[in-house]
Amino acid sequence: MTDPQFVLTERVRRALGAAFGAEFADADPLIRPSQFADFQANVALGLAKRLQRQPREVAQAIAAELADFPGTVEISGPGFLNITLDDGWIAEQAGQLLDDPRAGVGQITPPQTVLIDYSAPNAAKEMHVGHLRTTIVGDSLARIHEHLGNHVVRQNHLGDWGTPFGMLIEHLLDIGEAAAVAQLEAGEGTEFYQAARVKFDAEIAFKRRARARVTTLQAGDPDTMRLWHVFMDATVRYFNKIYSMLGVTLTDDDIAGESMYNPMLATTCDDLQASGVATLSQGALCLFPPGFTGSDDQPLPLIIRKSDGGYGYATTDMAAIRHRVDDVKADRILYIVGADQALHFQMVFAAARQAGWLPETVSAEHVQIGMMLGADGRRFKTRSGESVKLMELLTEAVDRAKAAIAERGYDETTRDEIAHDVGMGAVKYADLSISHDSEYIFDFDRMLKFQGNTGPYMQYATARIRSIFRKGGVDPASATARITPDHPAERALALQLLGFGALVEQTAALAEPHRMCAYLYETASLFSTFYEECPVLRDDVAAETRASRLALCSLTLRVLETGLGLLGVPVPSRM
Ligand code: ARG
Repeated sequence: MTDPQFVLTERVRRALGAAFGAEFADADPLIRPSQFADFQANVALGLAKRLQRQPREVAQAIAAELADFPGTVEISGPGFLNITLDDGWIAEQAGQLLDDPRAGVGQITPPQTVLIDYSAPNAAKEMHVGHLRTTIVGDSLARIHEHLGNHVVRQNHLGDWGTPFGMLIEHLLDIGEAAAVAQLEAGEGTEFYQAARVKFDAEIAFKRRARARVTTLQAGDPDTMRLWHVFMDATVRYFNKIYSMLGVTLTDDDIAGESMYNPMLATTCDDLQASGVATLSQGALCLFPPGFTGSDDQPLPLIIRKSDGGYGYATTDMAAIRHRVDDVKADRILYIVGADQALHFQMVFAAARQAGWLPETVSAEHVQIGMMLGADGRRFKTRSGESVKLMELLTEAVDRAKAAIAERGYDETTRDEIAHDVGMGAVKYADLSISHDSEYIFDFDRMLKFQGNTGPYMQYATARIRSIFRKGGVDPASATARITPDHPAERALALQLLGFGALVEQTAALAEPHRMCAYLYETASLFSTFYEECPVLRDDVAAETRASRLALCSLTLRVLETGLGLLGVPVPSRM
């Protein structure tokens, strides 16, 4: 591990143990970036209380144990340890990174099985902007875990089952299979649903047919199942168009929709009832996980079988969690789902723990996705108030990207070549760069800016480094000279790059892709400063300096490209 913060934490811990005894060796040294040095350790202040000694004295005792340390340690203020690393140490670590195609990103051993439940649009409705975000965030987490060597199981928990399908199948028969398929493939699921709904509400005969169809569907009648497949296959083809436009890694093999759990729902209920975890309340079978009460202070129920015998969303999630633990053998389950479902998941997790279906060794986490808002700060809609069609939104992103690129004076070929990547990069990066649980304003103008923490800026930053190599006639892969970080801007950039591996691990551990964005943005900014202050290709630059700087450029490029790749943001090679 080359991460300076990690290395320093280990070193200072060792010093704590040596100075005050083994029981202090696992205290957090509180290493933070510092204004006055590379880092500062703030541990002495808190420790002083515990030891009943003066903070400065404690700091001195720690510093005394850091004699063999590859840097200088100074005590400042009430007892901060200001730590400056040796240039030689930084150079050595940077050299190691340069030799490492993974740029310091380790492999987790032993690998964990990480199940990621994401995207999950509903077939009876149009895939909407909310699903855009669960798709993008989930896909990034899947890529990151895979890169770390974990065994990733993607699960697209499609809403593909339930009573609306009776009415949808009848409507499909009414308009004819071919017409229905065409409409669904075109992404007009909402219109399809609405047309069915209108008939359902207005025509007694249609309602009767729809109800009967639900029964035959539940019973698995072959004809009905065939029609259901016709409906679903067309719908999934539309979802796949969106996924491929976005460059998302989900495939048909990852589909594990609600329908998959249908055969397990009866036993799910029976088993929960038999073990006493589920109880009947007014005819409905309910879970009452401990710690959840309603406004009336009464235990809050999670209904798994309605009084009419029907199963619901919660039943499916109870069946799913058991399957994920017992059959998939997941160590960690991430649910990338809207924040408005927080209570649902808390209750499902608690009930599953209560039932013994979710052992303490398995973690289940709801990665809450904040609501997508329009530029007006309200729920994202079109001007006329309808929900926005996802495909149209993505196409618009590409068109606008083309315009934004044209404004910057690119020739037409480049424009057409990169518009798709810039448009999708902008949309994806905008989703990822904001903490996943906060609300988020969908604003084309802002996400397509070439300055600030945006997709286009990050893509441009990497393309700019590539163009340095093109100009110099050097292949980035062969720029492997020793990095000598003599200039402060070189030093700052090198230190930043050393932290990449730790950052990737932290992003995975916390399930927070925005940390990666912040890190990459910071890296690109440090690179800009370096490039302004340290000429690379200029004639008056000594050969050795030039080689070192090119190596630094190459390492920066590798970190930026790896990072953007892990986010799922495409990187055009020229811009
Ligand atoms: N289809 C649901 C929705 O659109 C999301 C499903 C999330 N996953 C789950 N296991 N419940 O809100």
